Amino acid sequence: NQKPIIVQGPMPIEAQKFAKKLENVKEEKSGNFVFYKGTVDNYPVIVVKTGKGRENTAAATAIAIEKYHPKAIINQGTSGGHDENLNVFDIVLGKRTTNIGSLKTEDKKEGEGMDPTAWKPMDLMASEGSAGEDPDAEKARYYEGDKKLLAAANAVKDTYKKGKVVEGTIGSADTWNNEVDRIKWFHTKYGTSVEEMEGAAAAQIAGSYDVPFLGIRVLSNNKVNNGKYNPNTAAACQDYVYEVIKRYISAN
Ligand code: 5AD
Repeated sequence: NQKPIIVQGPMPIEAQKFAKKLENVKEEKSGNFVFYKGTVDNYPVIVVKTGKGRENTAAATAIAIEKYHPKAIINQGTSGGHDENLNVFDIVLGKRTTNIGSLKTEDKKEGEGMDPTAWKPMDLMASEGSAGEDPDAEKARYYEGDKKLLAAANAVKDTYKKGKVVEGTIGSADTWNNEVDRIKWFHTKYGTSVEEMEGAAAAQIAGSYDVPFLGIRVLSNNKVNNGKYNPNTAAACQDYVYEVIKRYISAN
């Protein structure tokens, strides 16, 4: 009885290419989440169309874990660059994934305005007490990418011809940042390579069940170096993740 590998994609263009590569596919639905249950090299793999954003992703992750007891979870799809050295079609392996939407503001009285550059990261998992009062919560939490998944991803990076594949930090929030100074603030403060809207939610829930996790994100756009949005990156990422899965199956 083999435990399945879960591959998550938020949008149809980020899930359906992989789903078409599966053999013996059966489709199941739970809420808005679509599970394409099939096999790769005779090993069970489930592609999940989660929908966009942290809520959808967290729920789809918990449902998948409770229903299918996966061996590992990969969250993959498109992202926006935070690093000027990364170009559209480059791929970031999430050595770390972090929530960049969880923030605590300064104390300011009426009329004193607001200053987003002074906002601090807030870690809701730091304690069971009030995150607003707990000084230990004034930090970002980083979810480590699983070593075996990272090893499989690194082992097949030469199969990817459309850009480079690098390890980095994936930042997640339900925000699309277009302000280059704000993007650079995240890059400096959190070390982010890219931003997207799902990885940290999946990593947090996978972590709470001790399920090995890795985020894999292709740049579909990069404001920092004028990289124009290209939706074809979503398919390229799935082709690469398919190679990662085959390697992970044969090596583990
Ligand atoms: N900022 C935020 N999310 C992005 N995505 C692609 N590029 C970006 C970006 N620059 C992804 C998100 C979400 C959808 C809007 O595309 O993960 O699923």
